[in-house]
Amino acid sequence: MAHQEEEAAALLTPYKMGRFELSHRVVLAPLTRCRSYGNVPQPHAALYYSQRATRGGLLVAEATCVSATARGYPETPGVWTREQVEAWRPIVDAVHRKGALFFCQLWHVGRVSTNEYQPNGQAPVSSTDRQITPDDSGIVYSKPRRLGAEEIPRVVDDFRRAARNAVEAGFDGVEIHGAHGYLLEQFMKDGANARADRYGGSLENRCRFAVEVVDAVVGEVGAGRVGIRLSPFLDYMDCSDSDPVALGAYMVQQLNKHPGFLYCHMVEPRMAIVEGRRRITHGLLPFRKLFNGTFIAAGGYDREEGNKVVADGYADLVAYGRLFLANPDLPRRFALGAPLNKYDRSTFYTQDPVVGYTDYPFLDEKDEDSAASA
Ligand SMILES: Cc1cc2nc3c(=O)[nH]c(=O)nc-3n(C[C@H](O)[C@H](O)[C@H](O)COP(=O)(O)O)c2cc1C
Repeated sequence: MAHQEEEAAALLTPYKMGRFELSHRVVLAPLTRCRSYGNVPQPHAALYYSQRATRGGLLVAEATCVSATARGYPETPGVWTREQVEAWRPIVDAVHRKGALFFCQLWHVGRVSTNEYQPNGQAPVSSTDRQITPDDSGIVYSKPRRLGAEEIPRVVDDFRRAARNAVEAGFDGVEIHGAHGYLLEQFMKDGANARADRYGGSLENRCRFAVEVVDAVVGEVGAGRVGIRLSPFLDYMDCSDSDPVALGAYMVQQLNKHPGFLYCHMVEPRMAIVEGRRRITHGLLPFRKLFNGTFIAAGGYDREEGNKVVADGYADLVAYGRLFLANPDLPRRFALGAPLNKYDRSTFYTQDPVVGYTDYPFLDEKDEDSAASA
């Protein structure tokens, strides 16, 4: 019983992440919401994020494009122009007024794009000129153009500048998006990268671009303001690796080279079905053990699993995506053991400034009373 109580409270205990004092461990995972018209963050995002902000809570903003060529989805925000930086500022301020920390996720989609999203209708760029195999989703990504080795420093520089801009907009730090089949993974994973130059072949070569991005961003804003998201086990967008443990371990070792590198945020392998129930497979332990900084786990967590992994020391923090999307007061609901709103998948990526965005209800006092007495 005592152990259960301890576990139940684990997500709600304070934690010091580098220079940042967190009051609990329930993190808002980065969530693309496609409501930044013309790639400019909008005032409605101030409401959306501040609804999810708590004193001492950590929010990671949706994936934010580092350049015009980084785009691949409708109405996603950027942080490469002055106008975008100015538009982020009041959103960041609104989050800070609630006492939360706010990190900007820096994103380049690479070949997960079409010519329509690219400047002058050009081909999206990637490590490769191989197109993503069309699946039954109906989305056909364009055939990419393979970046020449001499062009890569410019893309690294886009990440560096975006990090600078994010900090100028007031963000407390940045999270490099190194997950889910986007540009960094298109280099890192041997299922996508078929290059024979210094950016392909060996594990070290395939990780070179990602490591250069990490080094550049750290050099610009300081290791204590930088995290990264990685998903070595996933195979999204034709990005799979034949040895994900070696890949994840190598990347973690590169992060450790920067004293004070803030956090490593990793996405769990796909859920396994065990005895008819979906189960998190907890495949991230080798990386957790190897990494010197704060370790964030994500992917399929609920209250019970989150409390368990924090209590067990498997993760320092747990990021919640869909549950936090649908429950703006998720940490409070977890504290009370209150019921959760269900998420509506059909409005995840629609463009309405309210519906499915800022209209998920908060727990009202009536519910709170019944949760407390349950
Ligand atoms: C609507 C939606 C948008 C997402 N956008 C992003 C994103 O911008 N960046 C990212 O790294 N992951 C993104 N993800 C993945 C989530 O951050 C998270 O890892 C995933 O939903 C699994 O966690 P969950 O089971 O708690 O939802 C998105 C997921 C959803 C449902």
